[in-house]
Amino acid sequence: MTILVTGGAGFIGANFIIDWLQTRDEGVVNLDKLTYAGNLRNLASVEGHESYTFIRGDIGDSVLVPDLLVEHKPRAVINFAAESHVDRSIHCADDFIGTNVVGVYRLLDNVLRYWSELPEAEQAGFRFLHVSTDEVYGALEPGAPAFTEDNSYKPNNPYSASKAASDHLVRAFHHTYGLPALTSNCSNNYGPFQFPEKLVPLFIHNALAQKPLPLYGDGRQVRDWLYVRDHCAALRQVLETGEVGEVYNIGGNNEKTNLEIATMLCEILDEIRPGNGGESYKSLVSFVKDRPGHDRRYAMDSSKIRRELGWKASETVESGIRKTVLWYLENQDWVAATVGGGYRDWIRKQYR
Ligand code: NAD
Ligand code: TYD
Repeated sequence: MTILVTGGAGFIGANFIIDWLQTRDEGVVNLDKLTYAGNLRNLASVEGHESYTFIRGDIGDSVLVPDLLVEHKPRAVINFAAESHVDRSIHCADDFIGTNVVGVYRLLDNVLRYWSELPEAEQAGFRFLHVSTDEVYGALEPGAPAFTEDNSYKPNNPYSASKAASDHLVRAFHHTYGLPALTSNCSNNYGPFQFPEKLVPLFIHNALAQKPLPLYGDGRQVRDWLYVRDHCAALRQVLETGEVGEVYNIGGNNEKTNLEIATMLCEILDEIRPGNGGESYKSLVSFVKDRPGHDRRYAMDSSKIRRELGWKASETVESGIRKTVLWYLENQDWVAATVGGGYRDWIRKQYR
């Protein structure tokens, strides 16, 4: 048996594949375009594993995808492939529409054709799991209840709008054609292999280089932080026992402001790697121009997945952030190989 993972060379997909090969006796085919966010170094530990196959390609490629489906006969597809950084979507949303909307449509269309040709028993067991985000629900007021699966979609930036479109397409392919699809919407992840354009790895990287830690606006925006391995465990659970056609919200029940996250990172670094010229790393925190359309608060109500599938997060934000800081400290060669010319161009453009 085999599963097809798309976008498996990115942050969450790579963690998912590594965990999968450690915990399951089932093959994985990884289809990834290797955009700036895709990095085969993330998968160095499984390269050469007999149950792992890498294919470079685009989820929207209607020649490649049908061929690889017929060749590898996956019993499930888990779609991680996406353009994923809000700030980049604000500069230019072309690639977000290309992959998150058109690419997902083509992937669904080709998977539907493949699924339609399967024998009945295999059709019944087949799953398409679409990995999405809490951002599709829009922003919460302080004190408002966390997002449930019944919240309406109110995406506020090009990234979340493109993900919302993909979620709607997945829903439609299930409803109209019967494709056995499920969708998961998850809160902010952090952990090993996250590209240092996102808040947590960017701040660790900058702190170690004694560079400013740029907090947008007043730094009081709230996110619900989840350790990536907890997300991967939730996805395995949804794949195995989730009900076809359903949506599952996944969150850490760990609401923190960005300022609290920055403070936590600095205090952990002060303890285990003191070095900002004798001062706390907190002195590097700097408030910069806010992100346009910045969503004030996200929070996920994960009671459905807990109640129905028995999943809950195992890390607190404190334990998960500490693990993450240690991972970045121990993997400075990964960081050095990741922050090349393209990365420096992005940082200059975004934070000039
Ligand atoms: P990422 O940006 O780190 O990785 C995305 C991967 O997709 C990269 O390896 C890239 O090369 C690949 N890719 C991009 N376009 C492709 C295409 N057209 N065809 C094939 N591969 C392509 O993203 P991530 O943080 O790992 O997120 C994975 C998924 O989880 C995304 O769908 C994202 O929307 C969702 N998500 C992320 C978070 C988070 O906090 N990072 C939270 C909730 C949901
Ligand atoms: P990010 O990691 O980009 O995830 P998302 O936008 O998907 O939530 O950002 C997390 C939060 O951190 C978000 O409120 C924006 C904020 N942020 C900063 O304040 N400074 C930064 O340099 C970055 C990248 C993010």
